[in-house]
Amino acid sequence: MSNDYHTPVLLEGVLEYLITKPEGIYVDATIGGGGHAGGILGRLSPQGKLVGFDTDSDAIEYSKQRLSNYKQRVIVIRENFIRMKSSLQEHNLNNVNGVLFDLGISSFQIDKPDKGFSFRRDERLDMRMDKSQALDAERLVNTTDAKELETIFREYGEERFARRIAQAIVRERMRKPIETTGSLASLIEEVVGKKFTQKSLARIFQAMRIVVNDELNSLRRALRDAVELLTEGGRIVVIS
Ligand SMILES: C[S@@+](CC[C@H](N)C(=O)[O-])C[C@H]1O[C@@H](n2cnc3c(N)ncnc32)[C@H](O)[C@@H]1O
Repeated sequence: MSNDYHTPVLLEGVLEYLITKPEGIYVDATIGGGGHAGGILGRLSPQGKLVGFDTDSDAIEYSKQRLSNYKQRVIVIRENFIRMKSSLQEHNLNNVNGVLFDLGISSFQIDKPDKGFSFRRDERLDMRMDKSQALDAERLVNTTDAKELETIFREYGEERFARRIAQAIVRERMRKPIETTGSLASLIEEVVGKKFTQKSLARIFQAMRIVVNDELNSLRRALRDAVELLTEGGRIVVIS
């Protein structure tokens, strides 16, 4: 399969830093389309194994198919990497030689219309990587108070118009709920002006995505677990 799902970035660097033992066990905590995972498996010896995680069911389906040639050497699990350690233990794996995190979202998630991550198309505000969770971007934008919205935009988006955007959202939703990426984008454009729109949109959408998917808490916990899982000399590689 090609890289049309997501082009793996820094692949050579990842392989060089991550793989210390070709017959070892490696974890791809964010398998996505399986680009990095395929590269890792290709570099391992026939005894080497890979376990991949992703919360997104499309990623799981795609990477399973892409890596099907590796059969018993690969396990792909639909799970948040916050539960990586217990999930590995269920497969009797207590130690691994390397863990890769490729943070953020894949090109597929940005491009697929029903994911609601993109401000370049008008679609329902969603942004959940895991569609089974209750909190989505629509709920976040329509129920969070102005002060908290401002904090979210400032902390996770470093948005300088955070307060004005938060207040405009609260005013608008009293009139009618904000349900689509398009209506949120127009509102932001009204507040910040055309010249700053693109940058503000990128920052606000990033901030919302981080909160909807609880990205920083998951990462904090998963990094700690990854350190505990490593065998001596093992490595963690993070692309951020
Ligand atoms: C940048 S993409 C990874 C692309 C992948 N390295 C490849 O080569 O195709 C990030 C992936 O991480 C997944 N993801 C984000 N947060 C996650 C989490 N807490 N647990 C598991 N997967 C997560 C996303 O669903 C997405 O598929």
